[in-house]
Amino acid sequence: MCEYTNQNDLKHSMQAIDLTGPAPIQEPQRQYFFIQKARQHVMEKSEELGRPLYFHCVTFGCQMNARDSEKLCGILRQIGFLESDGEDADFVIYNTCTVRDNANQKVYGRLGYLNTMKRKNPHMKIALCGCMMQEPSVIEKIRKSYRFVDLIFGTHNIFKLAELLTAVYESDEMIIDLWTDTDQIVEDLPVQRKYPFKSGVNIMFGCNNFCSYCIVPYVRGRERSRTPEEITDEIRRLVEDGVVEVMLLGQNVNSYGKTLKQPIHFAELLKRVEEVEGLRRIRFMTPHPKDFSDELIEVMRFSKKICRHLHLPLQSGSSRILQQMNRKYDKEQYLALVGRIRNAMPDIALTTDIIVGFPGETEEDFQETLDVVERVGYDNAFTFIYSKRTGTPAAAMEQVPEEVAHERFDRLLALVQKNARSAAEKWQGQVAEVLVEGVSDHGDGTLTGRMSNNLLVHFQGPKTLIGTLVPVALVDSKGFYFIGEWRGVV
Ligand code: SAH
Ligand code: SF4
Ligand code: F3S
Repeated sequence: MCEYTNQNDLKHSMQAIDLTGPAPIQEPQRQYFFIQKARQHVMEKSEELGRPLYFHCVTFGCQMNARDSEKLCGILRQIGFLESDGEDADFVIYNTCTVRDNANQKVYGRLGYLNTMKRKNPHMKIALCGCMMQEPSVIEKIRKSYRFVDLIFGTHNIFKLAELLTAVYESDEMIIDLWTDTDQIVEDLPVQRKYPFKSGVNIMFGCNNFCSYCIVPYVRGRERSRTPEEITDEIRRLVEDGVVEVMLLGQNVNSYGKTLKQPIHFAELLKRVEEVEGLRRIRFMTPHPKDFSDELIEVMRFSKKICRHLHLPLQSGSSRILQQMNRKYDKEQYLALVGRIRNAMPDIALTTDIIVGFPGETEEDFQETLDVVERVGYDNAFTFIYSKRTGTPAAAMEQVPEEVAHERFDRLLALVQKNARSAAEKWQGQVAEVLVEGVSDHGDGTLTGRMSNNLLVHFQGPKTLIGTLVPVALVDSKGFYFIGEWRGVV
């Protein structure tokens, strides 16, 4: 499944490269040069070993990281690697997340295993990139205790992978290339999509909100938006390439476009994306409740393509805690917003993110969270135990004991699951349009598809339906998914 959104242009640009001269200064031409250069190294190694070289990419964290990994994989393919699903590959790259400490611990745990693999396979190269690498304390630790790592880079320079890999092949030292921030957005590099029929599309990078618990603004840098033309051009190319559903990605999509030379609102961007012919579904994440405009609600309401699902992070139901979190809305404002959204779109599915055990959270504060969860009746929620992130304001506040946070977490989860079950049951008996995503992991040959409201449906049908939108009767609710019956192609 190797898709290049810009294959023809790329081939043309690659052919014209003279490797005997110096590397061009301009991007992306500079990277085309290094893709060719790294390709030579891979070919040499491959001849020496008498077999192709393989890469393996492991992604931690959110959809932004998933999209970044598609870019990394696209470059690696272009360099001449084949993809492997095992960590015994010749080049292993971990695209890391640091939003909560358990994400970091997972990476350290797996690095130990990679070390054993590298001992057996000394020409193996190991790279680490992504959010965790933007933290100086992490780099120190890897330098000291994980000396077998060959390459470290961060979130701002993933487009440079070919250049960095060339440096790895030409040196015996650990290569570390970290940028604290950038306003550069490099386009037109290869991308290898995970799904042929749906794709994430970055509309902006970074975050300016500085919620007091969150490390993302420190590791992803300041907010910068792509222009609407760049975004719609990319979507047009994706559609030509078979994509029917896009997910517009940003840490706070509601502040999209504010920093552009010609500022534009997110609602206006959505209208332009809607006009792309052949595109069937539009999703986006994440909207911040503080900036959610009535215009956006109206655009969603009259749209034929925007899915009937909204992920609207609550974080806490207590106005006091929300203020400490620097979220810039209170409980009443959040509930009023939900009311406006539901008035305009009664059938919309609402999901959320909630943190329990934020510093200073009392039982009364937690009851406020349960109250909002009960009143909104979310279709689903991601619930997290607060994790202390060094350098954020909340790290210096008085922490809630671990056992208290765990006990609250369990109570919250039980309520969330109860609500999710009853929200799903409401759909029972209806026929829904489903985008068929693949063969289900139930192992019984059934297919899996996703409804506009993001619920999964498993049903019997031929594999040729994968990537298409089909009607499916929702026969049996299983709480978080449905067993359905395919009702023929529309
Ligand atoms: N930009 C998005 C969220 C990105 S991080 C937004 O503002 O909604 C995804 C989720 O991780 C957050 O919504 C939050 O619930 C959770 N999270 C972030 N930092 C955390 C921390 N320190 N501890 C626990 N959960 C955290
Ligand atoms: Fe983190 Fe807040 Fe930015 Fe979301 S909006 S990424 S929670 S700082
Ligand atoms: Fe994690 Fe970075 Fe996303 S910290 S949640 S991968 S932006």
